[in-house]
Amino acid sequence: MKIAPSILSADFSRLKDEIEAVEAAGADWLHVDVMDGHFVPNITVGPVVVESIRKVTRLPLDVHLMVTEPDKYAPELIKAGANWISVHQDTCKDPRTTLKTIRRLGAGASIAVNPDIDLDEVEKFFSGIDMILMMTVFPGFAGQTFIEDVLPKIQKIRSIIAERGLPVLVEADGGIKADNIHRVVSAGAEVIVSGSGIFKTADYGETIRRMRKAVEKI
Ligand code: DX5
Ligand code: ZN
Repeated sequence: MKIAPSILSADFSRLKDEIEAVEAAGADWLHVDVMDGHFVPNITVGPVVVESIRKVTRLPLDVHLMVTEPDKYAPELIKAGANWISVHQDTCKDPRTTLKTIRRLGAGASIAVNPDIDLDEVEKFFSGIDMILMMTVFPGFAGQTFIEDVLPKIQKIRSIIAERGLPVLVEADGGIKADNIHRVVSAGAEVIVSGSGIFKTADYGETIRRMRKAVEKI
């Protein structure tokens, strides 16, 4: 299991310290939510901030694009240092082309799936992706309540991937904390995004240890 703290819940006035703290606490990746105020009703950070983050950490940067123009911003974000790019398929003119471009530019390509999206709508892209990001909240804000109904969908995705022998990671994002991570990993997620579940706790190292302990016996 990889743990990817989402900086959306970090203290942005001390972003470098926060990143160094989660890195020292044992984070595997860093999750960066890019929102443009159109696809979702919130605005966060873009390529300029990703470029600065790239300079202060060696962690893979897992960039989750929640923008109406992913084809414009994905290349800029990869140039700024993103290692993974997740796009919501309904924001892409032609998702296959977007995913192909992301790979060609050297990043891992991922499809992000909202809780109300049918898996049939995304299955067709499976051969062209490196990861699938299952949203366990509706995107837009940190600190929302985990949506239990997504768990069977994660199980389903995991079995489709196994059946077809596809080299695709399953990531889960939204409302995941030390006390529910066990259910998400049991369902088949292997990259776990957690924003408030880590950054709103007093001791990041202790929280990440608790998370790893919770899934030890799976
Ligand atoms: C929600 C974002 C998440 C968010 C997770 O739109 O995609 O990455 O930061 O935050 P928590 O873990 O607090 O739900
Ligand atoms: Zn995210």
